[in-house]
Amino acid sequence: MSVTPETAVSYDVRDEVAVLTIDFPPVNALGEPMRRGLAMRLEQAAEDPAVKAIVLVGANDRFVAGADIREFGKPKQGPGLLELQLMMEASEKPIVSAVDGHALGGGLELALAGPFRVAASRAKIGLPEVNLGLLPGGGGTQRTTRIAGPEVALDLILSGKHISASKGKELGLIDEVTDGDVTEAAVAFAKKKAAEGGPYPKLVELTDKVEKVDFAIFEDVRKKNARKWKGMVAPFKIVDCVEAACKLGPRDGLKFEQDAFQECLEAPSRAAQIHLFFAERTAAKVEGLSPDVKLKKISKVGVIGAGTMGGGIAMSCINAGLPVTILEAKQEALDAGLAKVKGNYDISIKRGSRSQEQVDKALALLTPTLEYADLADCDIVIEAVFENMAIKKEIFGKLDDVMKPGAVLASNTSALSIDEIASATKRPGDVIGTHFFSPANVMKLCEVVRGDLASDETIATAMAFAKQIGKVPVLAGNCEGFIGNRILRVYGGEADILLEAGATPWQIDQALKDFGFPMGVFLMRDMAGLDVAWRMRQGRIEAGTLDPDSPEYTPLADRLCEAGRFGQKTGSGYYKYEGRDATPDPEIVAMLEEISAKKGITRRELSDEEIVDTILASMVNEGAKIVEEGYAQRTSDIDVTYAFGYGFPKYRGGPMFWAQQKGLDKVLEIINANYKRYGDRWKPAKLLEDRVAAGQDWEGKPVAG
Ligand code: 3HC
Repeated sequence: MSVTPETAVSYDVRDEVAVLTIDFPPVNALGEPMRRGLAMRLEQAAEDPAVKAIVLVGANDRFVAGADIREFGKPKQGPGLLELQLMMEASEKPIVSAVDGHALGGGLELALAGPFRVAASRAKIGLPEVNLGLLPGGGGTQRTTRIAGPEVALDLILSGKHISASKGKELGLIDEVTDGDVTEAAVAFAKKKAAEGGPYPKLVELTDKVEKVDFAIFEDVRKKNARKWKGMVAPFKIVDCVEAACKLGPRDGLKFEQDAFQECLEAPSRAAQIHLFFAERTAAKVEGLSPDVKLKKISKVGVIGAGTMGGGIAMSCINAGLPVTILEAKQEALDAGLAKVKGNYDISIKRGSRSQEQVDKALALLTPTLEYADLADCDIVIEAVFENMAIKKEIFGKLDDVMKPGAVLASNTSALSIDEIASATKRPGDVIGTHFFSPANVMKLCEVVRGDLASDETIATAMAFAKQIGKVPVLAGNCEGFIGNRILRVYGGEADILLEAGATPWQIDQALKDFGFPMGVFLMRDMAGLDVAWRMRQGRIEAGTLDPDSPEYTPLADRLCEAGRFGQKTGSGYYKYEGRDATPDPEIVAMLEEISAKKGITRRELSDEEIVDTILASMVNEGAKIVEEGYAQRTSDIDVTYAFGYGFPKYRGGPMFWAQQKGLDKVLEIINANYKRYGDRWKPAKLLEDRVAAGQDWEGKPVAG
């Protein structure tokens, strides 16, 4: 059934209060029919002689999730949010927003345009526009500052966090919190206000919090975050707007915010971040599952291994309210793992990100054990021991013996074949990979790795479970390195080749940092330690799967390890270290010159642009191959993987989106140039060639121009 303004906002009078119910699925966003409907109903209520007050409420227990993100970049139709807000401010009848579920972005701004808000205690409010490369453009920067002061406004808007209704009340954004029915409470509140009589407050005209402001706070925030926000538009504009709320009158402040919002809208980072918003949600969807697939209910989790990964995974689960039984082979390891978990929580209490009460509640859900039998009734068990196939198979054999029928058996492997792990059980249909990223309690990405025999139920359940514990799931096939590490290996390799061509580790790292990565490849390797990869290479050389004499073999990392330079922990690696401070080391240049000379390579100057283009083009080519081979469902899944697990700057939308913005044809040119120079490993992905030949984007839509 199509949505009309009449159905998007319905009208009902209860006890002299007009209840306007917004029903615009899925999340009651401020889409065109909803805006038209609301304008119409506000007018109806204003003119209705039987109505003394107005309540705005969202259907399906949720208020309004903000502007309709699908409309950005398209011509505006119907009344805008600002027009609705003017109507609300001009209303002679008190308007109360009844907030349940979420009031986010334009949703909260809509509620703040009226004089009053009543919220359900379970409701969350926030101004998350910054995550979309935007700022609250419906008066949010102005009203929040005037209600709660600039410090609160900066914190809320720059973080984009969702806060509880009671926190909202503490800040003055909510008037009343109820544990009961929010519409009833709002109707009662509205009646009371109508009886008391107007005029009703206009929040944009409040002044006490914007008087006596220390303007140095704005410069401090800009300075403190200058590096973090490099290349972004929205955070700087948010600071400008909050500052403007303290300097300008209410109407000028709103105008200032409008202009700043427009600038954010036009910035490329807005398109990139909105791409990621939808890409994240699309990634959670699995193509081709049987339509009657049923999710298995997950209410109890087992974790095997209390090391860094196991502890982090357990924390994610207990933070989401799921009881966890965590198993280790030895008491000392179990004790050490639990101490680490508690230590992590202590840090979050100190930082103020969690309260003692929240931590106590979470820890009460964690049960340590040394016995496999204690895992028997878990709905999912996640094995997180180190990467050794023999050990993993032994564990899965044991799990097969003890776990209840239908339980999901997951392995947190980053490299091993999930099919081989599954072969250790008599129930390969229940086995799946769940590749978390370290620190697992913080990092959002979870690659869900489907083996050949994984059942639809198991796949769908693992994806939903990852979401349940606050992760961003991406479905990957069982290829070497899955999605993320397969691409990492390719572009890491290209970075090594660039060193031999003439670059230095610090030039490459700086170029990647300037592009927006939190750190470059070589610094990252130094931090992780070079010895593990060295031992793995030696193993592969011994096994005959890696040829150190091939011209493509880049020996610098071996030379470093042979010299005892294992990275930060030994005081030197690709860099020299004073504590954690890395400095370039002329010895590395000497080593590189020797390696290049031995290979007959004349070292040359490389521009930062060439470095970034080469590294990114190699990512894109491998990403396209992964999709083409069916190991990822879609190109946007590659973006989600890289943005949520590998530090790819979100404001650039991910490698595949970067390629699209640059022009797929241009990226193909870079790939072809390298193919000519280096041969096979740069063979262009067919998917990319096909899209360019057809003049299409990744989704097969025609490219403009
Ligand atoms: N506009 C359009 N569609 C939206 C939307 C929005 N604001 N928010 C969510 N959706 C869509 C999603 O794309 C998804 O669609 P799909 O089913 O086709 O994939 C569907 O709604 C459900 O979304 P989720 O899977 O995210 O549902 P959850 O229940 O997990 O979460 C939510 C609900 C917390 C509201 C979450 O969707 C969310 O955070 N939404 C974005 C909120 C936001 O950023 N608001 C600010 C918008 S910008 C703005 O308001 C500008 C203003 O200042 C002028």
